[in-house]
Amino acid sequence: MFITLEGGEGAGKSTQARRLAAHLAQRGAVLLTREPGGSPGAEATRALLLSRGWDPRAEMLLHFAARREHVARSIAPALAAGAAVVCDRFADSTYAYQVGGQGGDAALWRALVDGTLGGVWPARTFLLDLPVEVGLARAAARGETNRYEALGRDFHARVRDAFHGLATREPARFRVVDASLPLDDVTAAILSAL
Ligand code: TYD
Repeated sequence: MFITLEGGEGAGKSTQARRLAAHLAQRGAVLLTREPGGSPGAEATRALLLSRGWDPRAEMLLHFAARREHVARSIAPALAAGAAVVCDRFADSTYAYQVGGQGGDAALWRALVDGTLGGVWPARTFLLDLPVEVGLARAAARGETNRYEALGRDFHARVRDAFHGLATREPARFRVVDASLPLDDVTAAILSAL
């Protein structure tokens, strides 16, 4: 089973991904991974993406170049070997950030999903949802400010709206979890939904 965690800044995806992977590891092999990154070439692309700004289409292509590497070298082989895969961000993030946030081309996103992922697509996606101000404050308190976090409140409000739009369009895949709750409550909500 391929499971992804999505959400804006400061939603606690990485912590919840670790906990979900630990839970699933009681039953069998699990690959815990993240995007952008997750394989050597994709991690190199991550460094490019986070180091400077790009033309919006170039940025979408870079995210999908990294994702294609990640899928081909890590995710697809793990799924073929019968492992569960838990991924911190995936193609929905590109829709939310590059289409919703940056105003990129939704048709290009769709074409890249159809043309580069070889049908690898999450069975379940947990959208860790919380108000933009709360998420940005949490991320700032962690002392992390990557290039995307610095983009401001309006950008992140568009990202959140875009995630909600995706969840509404694919209700069978998405579970929206209130990420403003304490960490243990968020974990419990994810495990019970699973
Ligand atoms: P990261 O440090 O992993 O942030 P987070 O802990 O919030 O996941 O940095 C990843 C950043 O890249 C994050 O701000 C979201 C952004 N991003 C995109 O803009 N598009 C994408 O397709 C992905 C996967 C991430």
